[in-house]
Amino acid sequence: LRVGLLFGGRSGEHEVSISSARAIAKALMAGQNQEKYTVLPIYIQKDGIWQGVTVAQQVLESGTPLISDGSGNLWQFPPDVTDVDVWFPILHGPNGEDGTIQGLLKLIQVPAVGSGVLGSAIGMDKIAMKMAFAQAGLPQVKYMAVNRAQVWSNPCVFPKLVDEIEANLGYPCFVKPANLGSSVGIAKVRSRSQLEAALDNAASYDRRIIVEAGVVAREVECAVLGNDNPKASVVGEITFKSDFYDYETKYTAGLADLIIPAAIPDSVTSQIQDMALAAFTAVDGAGLGRVDFFYVEATGEVLINEINTLPGFTATSMYPQLWAATGVPFPDLVNQLIELALE
Ligand code: DAL
Ligand code: MG
Repeated sequence: LRVGLLFGGRSGEHEVSISSARAIAKALMAGQNQEKYTVLPIYIQKDGIWQGVTVAQQVLESGTPLISDGSGNLWQFPPDVTDVDVWFPILHGPNGEDGTIQGLLKLIQVPAVGSGVLGSAIGMDKIAMKMAFAQAGLPQVKYMAVNRAQVWSNPCVFPKLVDEIEANLGYPCFVKPANLGSSVGIAKVRSRSQLEAALDNAASYDRRIIVEAGVVAREVECAVLGNDNPKASVVGEITFKSDFYDYETKYTAGLADLIIPAAIPDSVTSQIQDMALAAFTAVDGAGLGRVDFFYVEATGEVLINEINTLPGFTATSMYPQLWAATGVPFPDLVNQLIELALE
């Protein structure tokens, strides 16, 4: 089978995608997978230009982004990538995890790993996602959806908006652009001036902004694998010393620890697994998803935070580690994902 591996991409998570793709390419070219699969990598530069196998291999080997001289084409399949049987898009964030690439792959009528247009789009937009979760009866933190126009256009509207956020959510709260990943553009705020600045900053990333109440809780995650009858993995916990699980903490070695399985009561684990599956179905997920939760130990409450339809996929990332701990080693996981795409 010829596997088209799409990576890089026009998002703040470009580097993460390169790391994920390196791990997946390695798994496809090792052991039993080696006989079954031929990998055809495509590297999408930060400027959106697509590069074929030769350049893509270089990026996979070096692990660093390629600086473009501006030559090449946008979203055009390079001539050395032909007869692809299945696509494996391992792009994180906007223009890759959000349904855009999924739509393109659907149009060319070749199966692809992961969620389709709808699942990817809902999974990327934190406001749409929360609405889908609420509809499915999943408990979550209090939040408010904000539009960029409320932040920028009218000097009379803005103070009222800030009053409303203070009254409804209090401090600390989190201000997030609705459509980014890996905590890009996210701020934890504790005062009115910080809130105002964070809203202004988030508005520079996205028209849609979400503000969430802070909660004192443990951060736990569950991996989902499957299409119509998805399975949930064991639950893992993330611990870190920084103020919150921001980009630096996520991607600097040693700043966060993954504890798998999480030391939580069995009843909480099964509740999280049920919620993960319900969340996956609520957004119309397919193939894979990592569902992130807050476990409020003081009350025993579990709140859903979000789903990631193309979670980080390096050998040390939470998603593959959760499956490894559940009895699905990395190469087998990659193999299963491709088989699910072909179903
Ligand atoms: N958005 C990053 C890749 C994650 O959720 O793992
Ligand atoms: Mg995310």
